[in-house]
Amino acid sequence: MTYGTILVERKDRTALVTLNRPEALNALNLQVMNEVVAATEELDRDPDIGCIVLTGSERAFAAGADIKEMRPRSYMDMYLSDWFTAWDRLGALRTPTVAAVSGYALGGGCELAMLCDILLASDTAVFGQPEIKLGVIPGIGGSQRLTRAVGKAKAMELCLTGRTMDAAEAERAGLVSRVVPAADLLAEALSVAGTVAGMSAPVAMMAKEAVNRSFETTLAEGVRFERRLFHAVFAVEDQKEGMTAFAEKRVPVFGHR
Ligand code: HXC
Repeated sequence: MTYGTILVERKDRTALVTLNRPEALNALNLQVMNEVVAATEELDRDPDIGCIVLTGSERAFAAGADIKEMRPRSYMDMYLSDWFTAWDRLGALRTPTVAAVSGYALGGGCELAMLCDILLASDTAVFGQPEIKLGVIPGIGGSQRLTRAVGKAKAMELCLTGRTMDAAEAERAGLVSRVVPAADLLAEALSVAGTVAGMSAPVAMMAKEAVNRSFETTLAEGVRFERRLFHAVFAVEDQKEGMTAFAEKRVPVFGHR
């Protein structure tokens, strides 16, 4: 399928989805949302894809939701169209996702990055939820996911003042897993994605599901959920392959089933 605002490439078992609205710093209008969701859901259904990387340009991962598109809308427009709820489907993908963030990741851009499973940043990345400066608040989960990622103190300051964080602060705060030089970001993200895609696909899905469960439930319920999945992996052939390969001192070849 061809898209107007994103580029989709495949290499081996990984896919790269690139936001491509340079004239608007990848501002997230409805077309971007619909295309990212359609493309990633198609990749999610493809058994040959084991990890999806989402990136933008060097200058901007995404400078937020499209302010010009939202500006004239009424409450009824937003409510009846359930504005931005389709983004939730990105967080519901079963295939692991990696956000490779360079430059601005503001408002909806920061929220989009936080919808991904692994968040890698370049040393030029800038994160923030500056919606308050526009007279609005985050609308794609930013007030919730940022708070879970960096804690109340920093999330509250960012959401109430619109202050942004550079990559080093974002890493210290636990928002991103790693910071790499801008020139290396994409190669590093694709390498991480290749590593994930080389694991057992069902077991990687279960690992993702287990970690994500920690955001939704109590510790006791989360541990119980993990234990059930842990028992279930012994029904996956890749468990035998992984442990046999260890015992035989060789590299495992997972069947992706
Ligand atoms: C629409 C945007 C945009 C956005 C940038 N542009 N961000 N268009 N929506 N979010 C456009 C500019 O209008 C401009 O178009 C072009 O991209 C280049 O941007 P400049 O501002 O000229 O670039 P620069 O001076 O380098 O400043 C970069 C910037 C600034 C600091 C990132 O663009 C900025 O502050 N953008 C808005 C950031 C923001 O507030 N994000 C949160 C959005 S609200 P022209 O045509 O003039 O060249 C949000 C809510 C989410 O995300 C949930 C809602 C439900």
